[in-house]
Amino acid sequence: MIPADFYRGRRLRSSLTMRELVRENAVTANDLIMPYFVAETDDESFMKEISSMPGQYQLSLKQLEKKVGEAVANGLKSCILFGIPAEKDEMGTQAYADAGIVQKAIRLLKDRWPELIVCADTCLCEYTSHGHCGIVQHDYVQNDPTLNLLAKTAVAQARAGADVVAPSDMMDGRVAAIRDALDEAGFINVPIMSYAVKYASAFYGPFREAAESAPQFGDRKTYQMDPPNAREAMREAVADLEEGADILMVKPGLPYLDIVRQVRDNFDTPVAVYQVSGEYSMIKAAALNGWIDEQAVIMESLVAFKRAGADLILTYFTEDVLKTLK
Ligand code: PBG
Repeated sequence: MIPADFYRGRRLRSSLTMRELVRENAVTANDLIMPYFVAETDDESFMKEISSMPGQYQLSLKQLEKKVGEAVANGLKSCILFGIPAEKDEMGTQAYADAGIVQKAIRLLKDRWPELIVCADTCLCEYTSHGHCGIVQHDYVQNDPTLNLLAKTAVAQARAGADVVAPSDMMDGRVAAIRDALDEAGFINVPIMSYAVKYASAFYGPFREAAESAPQFGDRKTYQMDPPNAREAMREAVADLEEGADILMVKPGLPYLDIVRQVRDNFDTPVAVYQVSGEYSMIKAAALNGWIDEQAVIMESLVAFKRAGADLILTYFTEDVLKTLK
């Protein structure tokens, strides 16, 4: 017996054009930020594949320029830079040195492509000998003494021409410290994209190989958030907004879509989400085994971020997606 009256959802799925007509969300090149790892080296041809992230590389300045050039030709609008300095020390000096590797990379990219939005990850872990995101004393990452160094890093990045600074350290008060320092240095128009809601996640594993930033002792659990917590995410977001964040980021991505949705529903600021290294590696590994349709899975994972309410997406798949979108 077929009932007389029921919902026929299939009417609007009858063809591709019909589905596209009623589609609620889309990923566009405007939303995507590509992360790059730039290494300080005299070897211009340096390009080292990250073994746990097939298709991602540590690049010399020259190779970075080449890669970004190709991506810009495919429609790249924005990138974020991570640095691998030649020398590390206790204080992460190279993070805020005017001739630090990220500062050099920013100058190079902004000189070549003034329209490209170049974001700088503002943190110390890639530059400290102990691999922590702040100053270490008595085996503990010290909050307040770290703030000044983060502020100096952001100012050095802005001075080099960074369009956006993105503090990822998770020290308390760092957004306020960075905003004050930027304003004082005359960079009132440089926005802060804060890694506001950043969890202490095992999904960052491959990144630490990529950026050579694994902590040499302990872990990041005394400063990054505890994964079981959701309400705390709102407190972190409120704090960063009050301190002057312009864009709120949630990180990681797919395992934290509930948090993306909560941040979206509670705040009117742009929301960014970071599809982190481990998420990339999982998709890549399955794809390389022929277990999944790589492009389809990538697009489905990215549109999930849009559906959850994200505006911007940081993803290592940006270059591939640009090609697909083209
Ligand atoms: C630096 C930083 C990390 C990531 C972005 N910025 C690593 C960490 O916090 O350990 C992770 C990005 C990724 O996994 O792709 N603090």
